[in-house]
Amino acid sequence: MLRTEDRPAQHPQIVGQAIEVHRWVRQARAAGKTIGLVPTMGALHAGHLSLVAASCQQCDATIVTIFVNPTQFIGGEDFEAYPRNVPQDLKLLGQHEVDLVFIPTQDEMYPAGSSTLVLPPDVAQPLEGLCRPNHFHGVATIVLKLFHMIPADVAYFGQKDYQQTLVVRQMVADLRISMRIAVCPTVRESDGLALSSRNAYLNEHQREQALALSHSLQVASQLVQTGERESASIISKMRQVFADAGVAKIDYIALVDPDTLAEVRQVNAPTLATVAAHVGDARLIDNQLLEP
Ligand code: PAJ
Repeated sequence: MLRTEDRPAQHPQIVGQAIEVHRWVRQARAAGKTIGLVPTMGALHAGHLSLVAASCQQCDATIVTIFVNPTQFIGGEDFEAYPRNVPQDLKLLGQHEVDLVFIPTQDEMYPAGSSTLVLPPDVAQPLEGLCRPNHFHGVATIVLKLFHMIPADVAYFGQKDYQQTLVVRQMVADLRISMRIAVCPTVRESDGLALSSRNAYLNEHQREQALALSHSLQVASQLVQTGERESASIISKMRQVFADAGVAKIDYIALVDPDTLAEVRQVNAPTLATVAAHVGDARLIDNQLLEP
């Protein structure tokens, strides 16, 4: 738990227990307030803060959660190394009108002996599901726990993690959860790099190489705008962008149906271009909707 002296002067209320946050939400709802929920793993950046700003604008009260969820990291991934900086996160949240920050311990979210996992919907299977087996089991499980503890009106997610938004939307529909899912656009650096907590792993050279992701999406978008329709041809030009940047470890470059994530051969309708690659120690993802 955070020591009081580490807290910024203007700080939102911080709670660590499910029962406390649940009570708070029930009281706020009883008082007629609408509540926005922004789930995060911390190491906050302007991408996260855009969700916070949307919630503060659209809801009467905003709750941000910070929890690095172990079950969504697969073996050998960066769970231990994942950046954690709660004092800095609270400082950033203090600049917004956040009412409550929920920072549970691991034991609070996964009590000793807990073994229940959510089987995510089918849309979890391709792309990230193939590269990171069971990743979405972990995401669906923690998101469902958070939704249960924090029965908000609206939950905010970023388009940056596009497949995650589909998994969450489908889970909410399948389980008849009465929460609206709002998806906010990807926030980028001025040169196009999508903001990510994992960008912190990049040195200067790798930061340059990482631009291959957003550049490849721009290339795809331009090709579609100038009449190219063949996915194979678009993907081969995207692949070239990675080769030119010296990024060899590509997990996928795909053009898919934005609803089902099934691969498309021809871009005759809105299509999602989505990429995942390793640059140094960072596994990065990005996506963009192509509109012919
Ligand atoms: P995290 O990676 O911390 O992201 C929290 C939210 O911020 C997600 O909805 C993500 O899509 C959004 N986000 C990240 N980068 C963004 C960017 N550049 N622009 C806009 N939004 C961005 O996603 C997770 O945590 C976890 O899987 C979580 C949902 C919290 C479950 O553990």
